[in-house]
Amino acid sequence: MNLKAIKDDITTLQVDAIVNAANNSLLGGGGVDGAIHRAAGPQLLEECRSLDGCATGAAKITHAYLLPARHIIHTVGPIWQGGNSSEAELLAACYRNSLLIALKAELTQIAFPAISCGVYGFPIEQAAEIAVHTCNDFITNTSLQITFCLYSESDLEVYRQLLHGSQISLEIVSRNQAFCGAIIGSAVGDALGVPVECVQRELLKENPVSDYRSHGSHQQEAGTWAAATSLGLCTLQSLMQKGFDLQDCMHKFSLWKTKGYMCAHNEVFQIGHATELAIEHYINGNPREEWAVSHDWQNGNGAQTRILPNALYVKREAIGNAVEKIFLASGLT
Ligand code: APR
Repeated sequence: MNLKAIKDDITTLQVDAIVNAANNSLLGGGGVDGAIHRAAGPQLLEECRSLDGCATGAAKITHAYLLPARHIIHTVGPIWQGGNSSEAELLAACYRNSLLIALKAELTQIAFPAISCGVYGFPIEQAAEIAVHTCNDFITNTSLQITFCLYSESDLEVYRQLLHGSQISLEIVSRNQAFCGAIIGSAVGDALGVPVECVQRELLKENPVSDYRSHGSHQQEAGTWAAATSLGLCTLQSLMQKGFDLQDCMHKFSLWKTKGYMCAHNEVFQIGHATELAIEHYINGNPREEWAVSHDWQNGNGAQTRILPNALYVKREAIGNAVEKIFLASGLT
Protein backbone atom coordinates (compact mmCIF):
# COMPACT_ATOMS: atom_id res chain seq x y z
CA MET A 1 0.00 0.00 0.00
CA ASN A 2 1.68 3.26 -1.03
CA LEU A 3 -0.33 5.42 1.33
CA LYS A 4 0.39 5.58 5.04
CA ALA A 5 -0.38 7.88 7.95
CA ILE A 6 1.94 8.78 10.83
CA LYS A 7 1.99 11.30 13.68
CA ASP A 8 5.16 13.39 13.57
CA ASP A 9 6.71 16.80 12.98
CA ILE A 10 6.92 17.00 9.17
CA THR A 11 10.12 19.08 9.37
CA THR A 12 11.98 16.03 10.71
CA LEU A 13 11.09 13.65 7.87
CA GLN A 14 13.85 12.38 5.60
CA VAL A 15 11.86 12.10 2.36
CA ASP A 16 12.21 13.41 -1.19
CA ALA A 17 9.77 16.22 -0.49
CA ILE A 18 7.58 17.54 2.26
CA VAL A 19 4.55 19.59 1.36
CA ASN A 20 4.00 22.94 3.04
CA ALA A 21 0.52 24.30 3.80
CA ALA A 22 1.46 27.83 2.77
CA ASN A 23 -0.40 31.06 2.07
CA ASN A 24 -0.65 32.89 -1.22
CA SER A 25 2.42 35.06 -0.51
CA LEU A 26 4.69 32.02 0.11
CA LEU A 27 6.56 34.27 2.55
CA GLY A 28 5.92 32.13 5.64
CA GLY A 29 3.39 32.30 8.43
CA GLY A 30 2.32 30.22 11.41
CA GLY A 31 1.47 26.56 11.80
CA VAL A 32 3.33 24.11 9.63
CA ASP A 33 4.39 26.95 7.30
CA GLY A 34 6.15 28.66 10.18
CA ALA A 35 7.73 25.44 11.40
CA ILE A 36 9.11 24.65 7.94
CA HIS A 37 10.54 28.13 7.42
CA ARG A 38 12.17 28.11 10.86
CA ALA A 39 13.73 24.68 10.36
CA ALA A 40 14.82 25.28 6.75
CA GLY A 41 16.56 28.57 7.53
CA PRO A 42 16.61 31.99 5.86
CA GLN A 43 17.61 30.77 2.40
CA LEU A 44 14.14 29.27 1.98
CA LEU A 45 12.52 32.68 2.34
CA GLU A 46 14.95 34.11 -0.20
CA GLU A 47 14.00 31.44 -2.77
CA CYS A 48 10.29 31.88 -1.99
CA ARG A 49 10.57 35.61 -2.66
CA SER A 50 11.61 34.75 -6.23
CA LEU A 51 8.46 32.64 -6.82
CA ASP A 52 6.01 35.54 -6.95
CA GLY A 53 3.42 33.88 -4.71
CA CYS A 54 1.12 30.92 -5.38
CA ALA A 55 -2.60 30.70 -6.19
CA THR A 56 -4.93 28.68 -3.98
CA GLY A 57 -4.93 25.06 -5.19
CA ALA A 58 -1.64 25.52 -7.06
CA ALA A 59 1.81 24.31 -5.95
CA LYS A 60 5.46 25.37 -6.35
CA ILE A 61 8.73 23.58 -5.45
CA THR A 62 11.85 24.85 -3.70
CA HIS A 63 14.96 23.38 -2.13
CA ALA A 64 14.69 22.30 1.50
CA TYR A 65 18.01 23.82 2.73
CA LEU A 66 18.59 22.81 6.39
CA LEU A 67 15.74 20.27 6.43
CA PRO A 68 16.42 16.50 6.12
CA ALA A 69 14.00 16.42 3.15
CA ARG A 70 15.41 17.23 -0.30
CA HIS A 71 12.64 19.53 -1.48
CA ILE A 72 9.63 21.47 -0.23
CA ILE A 73 6.47 21.64 -2.33
CA HIS A 74 4.48 24.68 -1.26
CA THR A 75 0.75 24.59 -1.85
CA VAL A 76 -2.01 26.91 -0.72
CA GLY A 77 -5.15 25.28 0.61
CA PRO A 78 -8.63 26.83 0.57
CA ILE A 79 -9.99 28.65 3.59
CA TRP A 80 -13.08 26.75 4.78
CA GLN A 81 -16.25 28.84 4.18
CA GLY A 82 -18.92 26.23 4.80
CA GLY A 83 -18.32 23.97 1.82
CA ASN A 84 -20.14 25.81 -0.94
CA SER A 85 -17.22 27.80 -2.33
CA SER A 86 -15.43 25.01 -4.20
CA GLU A 87 -13.33 24.20 -1.16
CA ALA A 88 -13.39 20.47 -1.96
CA GLU A 89 -12.18 20.99 -5.55
CA LEU A 90 -9.47 23.43 -4.46
CA LEU A 91 -8.19 21.11 -1.72
CA ALA A 92 -8.08 18.18 -4.16
CA ALA A 93 -6.14 20.42 -6.55
CA CYS A 94 -3.53 21.06 -3.81
CA TYR A 95 -2.82 17.33 -3.55
CA ARG A 96 -3.00 16.70 -7.30
CA ASN A 97 -0.75 19.63 -8.26
CA SER A 98 1.77 18.76 -5.55
CA LEU A 99 1.94 15.19 -6.87
CA LEU A 100 2.25 16.41 -10.46
CA ILE A 101 5.29 18.49 -9.42
CA ALA A 102 6.73 15.47 -7.59
CA LEU A 103 6.28 13.26 -10.67
CA LYS A 104 7.87 15.90 -12.93
CA ALA A 105 10.85 16.18 -10.53
CA GLU A 106 11.04 12.36 -10.41
CA LEU A 107 10.51 12.34 -6.66
CA THR A 108 9.07 9.24 -4.98
CA GLN A 109 8.56 9.77 -1.25
CA ILE A 110 6.22 12.66 -0.50
CA ALA A 111 4.88 13.72 2.91
CA PHE A 112 1.75 15.84 3.30
CA PRO A 113 0.49 17.68 6.38
CA ALA A 114 -3.27 18.01 6.79
CA ILE A 115 -3.56 20.92 4.38
CA SER A 116 -6.12 23.59 5.38
CA CYS A 117 -7.04 21.76 8.61
CA GLY A 118 -5.42 24.28 10.94
CA VAL A 119 -5.81 28.04 10.60
CA TYR A 120 -7.87 27.56 7.43
CA GLY A 121 -10.48 25.55 9.31
CA PHE A 122 -11.26 22.72 6.88
CA PRO A 123 -13.02 19.90 8.82
CA ILE A 124 -10.47 17.09 9.17
CA GLU A 125 -12.90 14.30 8.26
CA GLN A 126 -13.85 15.85 4.90
CA ALA A 127 -10.31 17.00 4.20
CA ALA A 128 -8.91 13.55 4.95
CA GLU A 129 -11.38 11.88 2.54
CA ILE A 130 -10.38 14.31 -0.20
CA ALA A 131 -6.67 13.86 0.53
CA VAL A 132 -6.75 10.07 0.63
CA HIS A 133 -9.03 9.59 -2.40
CA THR A 134 -7.22 12.17 -4.55
CA CYS A 135 -3.82 10.66 -3.71
CA ASN A 136 -5.05 7.12 -4.12
CA ASP A 137 -6.52 7.86 -7.57
CA PHE A 138 -3.36 9.74 -8.58
CA ILE A 139 -0.73 7.19 -7.57
CA THR A 140 -2.33 4.28 -9.48
CA ASN A 141 0.36 3.12 -11.98
CA THR A 142 3.07 5.32 -10.39
CA SER A 143 5.83 4.48 -7.89
CA LEU A 144 4.86 7.38 -5.61
CA GLN A 145 4.87 6.65 -1.86
CA ILE A 146 2.78 9.05 0.17
CA THR A 147 2.96 9.72 3.90
CA PHE A 148 0.21 11.73 5.58
CA CYS A 149 2.09 13.35 8.46
CA LEU A 150 -0.44 14.32 11.14
CA TYR A 151 0.28 16.47 14.16
CA SER A 152 -2.26 15.00 16.60
CA GLU A 153 -3.48 11.55 17.61
CA SER A 154 -7.07 12.50 16.73
CA ASP A 155 -6.10 13.57 13.20
CA LEU A 156 -4.04 10.42 12.81
CA GLU A 157 -7.04 8.29 13.83
CA VAL A 158 -9.21 9.93 11.15
CA TYR A 159 -6.67 8.98 8.49
CA ARG A 160 -6.18 5.51 9.95
CA GLN A 161 -9.94 4.87 9.72
CA LEU A 162 -9.94 5.91 6.07
CA LEU A 163 -6.85 3.96 5.08
CA HIS A 164 -7.68 0.78 6.92
CA GLY A 165 -11.34 1.10 7.86
CA SER A 166 -13.83 -1.51 6.58
CA GLN A 167 -16.02 1.09 4.91
CA ILE A 168 -13.37 2.23 2.40
CA SER A 169 -10.80 -0.37 1.39
CA LEU A 170 -8.46 1.69 -0.79
CA GLU A 171 -6.33 -1.35 -1.67
CA ILE A 172 -9.21 -2.83 -3.60
CA VAL A 173 -11.19 -0.05 -5.18
CA SER A 174 -9.96 3.30 -6.40
CA ARG A 175 -12.47 5.83 -7.62
CA ASN A 176 -11.65 5.12 -11.27
CA GLN A 177 -12.33 1.44 -10.74
CA ALA A 178 -15.55 2.29 -8.91
CA PHE A 179 -16.64 4.47 -11.85
CA CYS A 180 -15.96 1.75 -14.43
CA GLY A 181 -17.59 -0.96 -12.35
CA ALA A 182 -20.73 1.07 -11.81
CA ILE A 183 -21.11 2.10 -15.47
CA ILE A 184 -20.45 -1.39 -16.85
CA GLY A 185 -22.74 -2.99 -14.27
CA SER A 186 -25.50 -0.58 -15.21
CA ALA A 187 -25.06 -1.28 -18.95
CA VAL A 188 -25.14 -5.06 -18.39
CA GLY A 189 -28.35 -4.77 -16.37
CA ASP A 190 -29.88 -2.62 -19.12
CA ALA A 191 -28.93 -5.11 -21.87
CA LEU A 192 -30.31 -8.06 -19.86
CA GLY A 193 -33.61 -6.21 -19.51
CA VAL A 194 -34.11 -5.01 -23.11
CA PRO A 195 -35.53 -8.31 -24.50
CA VAL A 196 -37.96 -8.70 -21.61
CA GLU A 197 -39.23 -5.13 -21.21
CA CYS A 198 -42.98 -5.14 -20.35
CA VAL A 199 -43.03 -8.96 -20.10
CA GLN A 200 -45.37 -10.16 -17.29
CA ARG A 201 -43.66 -10.96 -14.00
CA GLU A 202 -45.28 -14.42 -13.85
CA LEU A 203 -43.72 -15.39 -17.18
CA LEU A 204 -40.31 -14.22 -15.97
CA LYS A 205 -40.68 -16.23 -12.77
CA GLU A 206 -41.10 -19.35 -14.92
CA ASN A 207 -38.26 -18.36 -17.26
CA PRO A 208 -35.94 -16.02 -15.34
CA VAL A 209 -33.33 -13.93 -17.18
CA SER A 210 -29.92 -15.51 -16.57
CA ASP A 211 -28.03 -14.36 -19.67
CA TYR A 212 -28.27 -12.09 -22.70
CA ARG A 213 -31.18 -12.91 -25.02
CA SER A 214 -31.77 -11.81 -28.62
CA HIS A 215 -34.99 -10.40 -30.16
CA GLY A 216 -37.77 -10.24 -27.50
CA SER A 217 -39.62 -6.97 -26.73
CA HIS A 218 -37.51 -4.75 -29.04
CA GLN A 219 -36.29 -7.32 -31.61
CA GLN A 220 -32.65 -6.47 -30.82
CA GLU A 221 -29.49 -8.60 -30.89
CA ALA A 222 -28.39 -10.12 -27.57
CA GLY A 223 -26.41 -7.65 -25.46
CA THR A 224 -27.96 -4.51 -26.96
CA TRP A 225 -28.30 -1.73 -24.40
CA ALA A 226 -31.11 0.84 -24.48
CA ALA A 227 -31.58 4.59 -24.03
CA ALA A 228 -30.73 4.51 -20.32
CA THR A 229 -27.17 3.39 -21.02
CA SER A 230 -26.72 5.52 -24.14
CA LEU A 231 -27.77 8.68 -22.30
CA GLY A 232 -25.66 7.64 -19.31
CA LEU A 233 -22.65 7.26 -21.59
CA CYS A 234 -23.39 10.66 -23.17
CA THR A 235 -23.44 12.12 -19.66
CA LEU A 236 -20.18 10.38 -18.71
CA GLN A 237 -18.43 11.54 -21.89
CA SER A 238 -19.59 15.10 -21.28
CA LEU A 239 -18.43 15.04 -17.62
CA MET A 240 -15.03 13.74 -18.69
CA GLN A 241 -14.62 16.26 -21.49
CA LYS A 242 -16.27 19.38 -20.08
CA GLY A 243 -17.00 18.76 -16.40
CA PHE A 244 -20.55 19.61 -15.27
CA ASP A 245 -21.81 21.32 -18.47
CA LEU A 246 -25.57 20.99 -19.12
CA GLN A 247 -25.38 22.48 -22.62
CA ASP A 248 -22.71 20.02 -23.70
CA CYS A 249 -24.57 17.12 -22.12
CA MET A 250 -27.80 17.99 -23.98
CA HIS A 251 -25.82 18.42 -27.21
CA LYS A 252 -24.60 14.84 -26.82
CA PHE A 253 -28.19 13.72 -26.17
CA SER A 254 -29.17 15.35 -29.48
CA LEU A 255 -26.34 13.45 -31.26
CA TRP A 256 -27.71 10.27 -29.73
CA LYS A 257 -31.23 10.99 -31.05
CA THR A 258 -30.16 12.16 -34.50
CA LYS A 259 -27.04 10.09 -35.20
CA GLY A 260 -27.19 7.08 -32.86
CA TYR A 261 -24.25 8.43 -30.80
CA MET A 262 -23.40 6.03 -27.91
CA CYS A 263 -25.95 3.47 -29.19
CA ALA A 264 -25.03 -0.25 -29.29
CA HIS A 265 -25.64 -0.38 -33.06
CA ASN A 266 -25.61 3.36 -33.92
CA GLU A 267 -29.39 3.42 -34.06
CA VAL A 268 -31.96 4.57 -31.49
CA PHE A 269 -34.69 1.95 -30.98
CA GLN A 270 -36.36 3.26 -27.80
CA ILE A 271 -36.91 6.88 -26.71
CA GLY A 272 -39.22 8.15 -23.99
CA HIS A 273 -41.74 10.81 -24.99
CA ALA A 274 -40.54 13.38 -22.42
CA THR A 275 -36.90 12.81 -23.45
CA GLU A 276 -37.77 13.11 -27.14
CA LEU A 277 -39.63 16.39 -26.60
CA ALA A 278 -36.80 17.87 -24.49
CA ILE A 279 -34.16 17.03 -27.11
CA GLU A 280 -36.35 18.43 -29.91
CA HIS A 281 -36.82 21.67 -27.95
CA TYR A 282 -33.00 21.89 -27.62
CA ILE A 283 -32.49 21.20 -31.34
CA ASN A 284 -35.07 23.91 -32.17
CA GLY A 285 -32.99 26.40 -30.22
CA ASN A 286 -35.35 26.86 -27.26
CA PRO A 287 -33.75 28.37 -24.10
CA ARG A 288 -32.71 25.78 -21.49
CA GLU A 289 -35.67 26.45 -19.24
CA GLU A 290 -37.95 25.39 -22.14
CA TRP A 291 -36.19 22.13 -23.01
CA ALA A 292 -37.92 19.70 -20.64
CA VAL A 293 -41.71 19.47 -20.49
CA SER A 294 -43.02 20.14 -17.02
CA HIS A 295 -46.50 18.59 -17.07
CA ASP A 296 -46.96 16.12 -14.22
CA TRP A 297 -48.06 13.43 -16.67
CA GLN A 298 -45.07 13.89 -18.97
CA ASN A 299 -42.12 13.30 -16.68
CA GLY A 300 -41.13 9.65 -17.02
CA ASN A 301 -38.28 7.95 -15.17
CA GLY A 302 -35.72 8.70 -17.90
CA ALA A 303 -33.64 10.98 -15.70
CA GLN A 304 -33.35 8.33 -13.02
CA THR A 305 -32.02 5.71 -15.45
CA ARG A 306 -29.18 7.90 -16.75
CA ILE A 307 -28.11 9.84 -13.59
CA LEU A 308 -25.41 7.44 -12.28
CA PRO A 309 -22.39 9.26 -13.83
CA ASN A 310 -23.57 12.54 -12.30
CA ALA A 311 -23.98 10.87 -8.91
CA LEU A 312 -20.43 9.50 -9.05
CA TYR A 313 -19.13 12.88 -10.26
CA VAL A 314 -20.59 14.87 -7.36
CA LYS A 315 -19.85 12.15 -4.81
CA ARG A 316 -17.39 14.15 -2.73
CA GLU A 317 -19.00 17.57 -3.06
CA ALA A 318 -20.89 19.22 -0.20
CA ILE A 319 -24.41 17.80 -0.11
CA GLY A 320 -26.02 21.11 -1.13
CA ASN A 321 -23.90 21.35 -4.26
CA ALA A 322 -24.44 17.69 -5.06
CA VAL A 323 -28.24 17.86 -4.77
CA GLU A 324 -28.34 21.01 -6.90
CA LYS A 325 -26.30 19.39 -9.70
CA ILE A 326 -28.35 16.19 -9.68
CA PHE A 327 -31.54 18.31 -9.82
CA LEU A 328 -30.22 20.28 -12.82
CA ALA A 329 -28.96 17.17 -14.62
CA SER A 330 -32.30 15.40 -14.10
CA GLY A 331 -34.13 18.48 -15.30
CA LEU A 332 -32.59 18.27 -18.76
CA THR A 333 -35.33 15.84 -19.86
N1 APR B 1 4.23 18.94 11.23
C1 APR B 1 3.09 18.40 10.72
N2 APR B 1 1.90 19.00 10.78
C2 APR B 1 1.84 20.21 11.40
C3 APR B 1 2.98 20.85 11.94
C4 APR B 1 4.21 20.15 11.83
N3 APR B 1 5.35 20.68 12.32
N4 APR B 1 2.58 22.05 12.46
C5 APR B 1 1.24 22.13 12.27
N5 APR B 1 0.79 21.03 11.64
C6 APR B 1 -0.56 20.70 11.24
C7 APR B 1 -1.68 21.41 11.94
O1 APR B 1 -1.98 20.75 13.17
C8 APR B 1 -2.82 21.21 10.93
O2 APR B 1 -3.41 19.94 11.11
O3 APR B 1 -0.71 21.10 9.87
C9 APR B 1 -2.10 21.21 9.58
C10 APR B 1 -2.33 22.48 8.78
O4 APR B 1 -2.47 23.60 9.66
P1 APR B 1 -1.84 25.03 9.32
O5 APR B 1 -0.40 24.98 9.40
O6 APR B 1 -2.55 26.03 10.14
O7 APR B 1 -2.20 25.24 7.77
P2 APR B 1 -3.59 25.64 7.08
O8 APR B 1 -4.76 25.25 7.87
O9 APR B 1 -3.47 25.14 5.70
O10 APR B 1 -3.53 27.24 7.08
C11 APR B 1 -2.55 27.85 6.27
O11 APR B 1 -1.69 29.09 8.10
O12 APR B 1 0.47 28.90 8.80
C12 APR B 1 -0.37 29.68 8.08
O13 APR B 1 0.99 30.68 6.38
C13 APR B 1 0.01 29.69 6.62
O14 APR B 1 -1.57 31.35 6.05
C14 APR B 1 -1.31 29.99 5.98
C15 APR B 1 -2.30 29.22 6.83
